[in-house]
Amino acid sequence: MSIYDKVRKVTTHVLNEMKLRNEKIAMLTAYDYSMARILDNAGIDVILVGDSASNVMAGYDSTLPITLNEMIYHASSVVRATKRALVVVDLPFGTYQGNSKEALSSAIRIMKETGAHAVKMEGGQEIKESIERILSAGIPVMGHLGLTPQSIHKFGTYVVRAREEAEAQKLVEDAHILEETGCFALVLEKIPATLAGKVAGELKIPVIGIGAGSKVDGQVLVLHDMLGITQEFSPRFLRRYHNLFAEIKGSVESYITDVRSVDFPNEKEQY
Ligand code: KIV
Repeated sequence: MSIYDKVRKVTTHVLNEMKLRNEKIAMLTAYDYSMARILDNAGIDVILVGDSASNVMAGYDSTLPITLNEMIYHASSVVRATKRALVVVDLPFGTYQGNSKEALSSAIRIMKETGAHAVKMEGGQEIKESIERILSAGIPVMGHLGLTPQSIHKFGTYVVRAREEAEAQKLVEDAHILEETGCFALVLEKIPATLAGKVAGELKIPVIGIGAGSKVDGQVLVLHDMLGITQEFSPRFLRRYHNLFAEIKGSVESYITDVRSVDFPNEKEQY
């Protein structure tokens, strides 16, 4: 029997146990009550309230503009819908890079005002002090390396990271630093599959990939991408399970036709 079947509430401990048993972790993003409710009912292990909300919910072209207050709004809606999944919330750009005290107060606001279970932060060695301070307050931290979208203006492009030896070596070092510092899990985004497999093999904590191949301990996708609500974003790693954009558009078009032709409402749809 899978540990998954016995677990009523996913915790960081459960994720570690899943790695030990070689059971893959399924994680998706959500930003609102209704979607989170569906994900939790379906049995997702981890819901990430990602700062990708900046793109898919608010329509910005990067993750940089979203604020802490906006993340708190999204996260508290998700937490209200969630009974079983572990809810992890991204610390948005500009709320933890300045200094570790600011990082801690941002993380405390998320935990206190949303009821979420952990925070996620992008970066390695350079944010170690902030991670330590947040952990010292008893707040679990998930790391994030590889393509870290909050640094998009430094990278200048969304291409695969760590193809070059020097960057790959730095990524492996950072992954070890994050584990030693006390992160409970790590996201690796858009890096070569062999490198991701090496990191997952060396670390004891679960490594969740997005565009990082199958040799990791779990996978994460942005919900709106995998459901086909977003159209313009089509990287190789994305598997689309639906074309909800077309389905919703079709339904709305039918509704408009029905209203205009007075087919809706009919006799049975009125009092
Ligand atoms: O914000 C987000 O959705 C993320 C995932 C891509 C891992 O960080």
